[in-house]
Amino acid sequence: MFDLSHRAALVTGGTGNIGPTVIRALLEQSAHVAAVVRDPKKGEALRSTLGPFVGGADDPRLIVIPADPGDRAAMDHAVETVLRAWGRLDIVANLVGGYAASDAATADLAAYRASWDQKVATVVTATAACLRPMRARAYGRVVSVASFAALKAERSAAGYAMANAALVRWTESLAEETKREGITANTVLPRIIDTPENRAAMPKGEPSRWASAAEIAAVVVFLASDEASGVTGAAIPVVART
Ligand SMILES: NC(=O)c1ccc[n+]([C@@H]2O[C@H](COP(=O)([O-])OP(=O)(O)OC[C@H]3O[C@@H](n4cnc5c(N)ncnc54)[C@H](OP(=O)(O)O)[C@@H]3O)[C@@H](O)[C@H]2O)c1
Repeated sequence: MFDLSHRAALVTGGTGNIGPTVIRALLEQSAHVAAVVRDPKKGEALRSTLGPFVGGADDPRLIVIPADPGDRAAMDHAVETVLRAWGRLDIVANLVGGYAASDAATADLAAYRASWDQKVATVVTATAACLRPMRARAYGRVVSVASFAALKAERSAAGYAMANAALVRWTESLAEETKREGITANTVLPRIIDTPENRAAMPKGEPSRWASAAEIAAVVVFLASDEASGVTGAAIPVVART
């Protein structure tokens, strides 16, 4: 579909539900991928899941780097590892996140801060580390998976919605700052993804109406491609059928 054979990508949050599908989609377009994981055991499980896509000793197509995406020093080190391996870093795909309920009416600031730390602090820290080599080469693709809750909150999801909305606004700001540097920054906004967790939590739901991991991956790959050079500052809902 797209030729990413000359591109190196760093992916955060790759050990979650959609991570393996997104990473495989990037590898299928011939990108080299560094998965930054906070749990090395999950990193090894991810590598096993991807089987032959990970490449071999002479051409490692996937490297797994243990690091916390919210730790700037650790992310600078991870970026250095990527540059040593492939001499370049072109794409960062931020998949880090997770849902936690919190009411609006109770002003549960601790819960709101937890959502902020999980969603905003991680993505902006990891992305900032990746921007240094992107700016040096005047090329970059920043793609973050947020949530449709950024645009329209549902009840009892106040902290989650605020954090996702903040990430969208931050991405727009980054897009403005980098728009003449060959760098684009966009967010992808699913509502519900067909995952084992969601099937268990919503046994009466209709998974066929939820976005598949492959549908999210397809949008991420497009935004990560050279061909998406005209798209920046966008927040793209992936909510068909819901
Ligand atoms: N699933 C849905 O229905 C849905 C709907 C809308 C939006 N989204 C968004 O889409 C993205 C991917 O969804 P998903 O279902 O694949 O997510 P997920 O399974 O919950 O995976 C989340 C990933 O983020 C990492 N992570 C979570 N909290 C972190 C923290 N504080 N610091 C560092 N890493 C952290 C996890 O690492 P560990 O493996 O180490 O825990 C995991 O790799 C997320 O951003 C999610 O918010 C999902």
